Amino acid sequence: MLKRIGSGDPCWCGSRKPYGQCHQEFDRKVSRARFMGHEVPSHKIIKTPEQIQGIRESGKLNVAVLDYVAERIRAGITTAEIDQWVYDYTTKHGGIPAPLGYEGFPKSVCTSIDAQVCHGIPSEDVVLKEGDIINVDVSTILHGYYSDSSRMFMIGDVGPEKEKLVRVTREAVEKGLQEVKPWGYLGDMGQAVHDHVKKHGYTVVEDVGGHGVGLEFHEDPFVSYVTRRGTEMLMAPGMIFTIEPMVNMGGDEIFVDDGNGWTIYTEDGKPSAQWEIMVLVTEDGCEVLNHASKELRVVD
Ligand code: MF3
Ligand code: CO
Repeated sequence: MLKRIGSGDPCWCGSRKPYGQCHQEFDRKVSRARFMGHEVPSHKIIKTPEQIQGIRESGKLNVAVLDYVAERIRAGITTAEIDQWVYDYTTKHGGIPAPLGYEGFPKSVCTSIDAQVCHGIPSEDVVLKEGDIINVDVSTILHGYYSDSSRMFMIGDVGPEKEKLVRVTREAVEKGLQEVKPWGYLGDMGQAVHDHVKKHGYTVVEDVGGHGVGLEFHEDPFVSYVTRRGTEMLMAPGMIFTIEPMVNMGGDEIFVDDGNGWTIYTEDGKPSAQWEIMVLVTEDGCEVLNHASKELRVVD
């Protein structure tokens, strides 16, 4: 028999506060949404204050790794060098690069250039050259807590078309972020991202998306950016997920590299861009746990 938790019992969240003064009202709101037919978060994906603090610290290292890359990335270096920087900086500061060995991924970071949509594998054979746009996707484990973010870098003069793709993708993340608040729906965020992308004639990749994150690399829910307002999972305080749309200049069709089983490319060979941030839903809005620098960086 399962006993109903009473107002005076300790809350399920581990705060040691009585349930009635902690998550009782939260559970009522969640139940109401579930009753209305909405997908709702399980208790498992709601983070405690202590976990949030751990994930925040992990996010700080995650940002520092990307800042370290940002200072060094330029034409003439190989993506293997980026991988080495990420490995060295992360481990020197007590962290572990999450991609290394993840489901067999061979490197510490993903580096995806131009028509590579995501999961590009760093290589000594890939030299950055003027005109490239590259996504550097860094995922960090610190004291068991996961963080995840990515930025675009433009190598020298990339031309107005690629520059616009990079900028609009960044703007789309910000538009989505504005919709993150408790008791809304993930589809509010997804539609804001998609609307902005469509407005500029681009497409959003549907088959790869974002995810919950923090205690594991990839947690529930799957986060799509091809969704409609008022649909998808209810956003509740304590949830952490990524906003990381992959935006294609051409069509949304993609394929996976047969050779390595990882790297995803646009079917039409046109460029793709992505920015990624990790967001905590709070009581009164949201907190970005690893905000990329405001500027779009052009590097030589
Ligand atoms: N960093 C990616 C994400 O944003 C996941 C990469 S999985 C890896 O979710 F194994 F390729 F690293
Ligand atoms: Co991610």
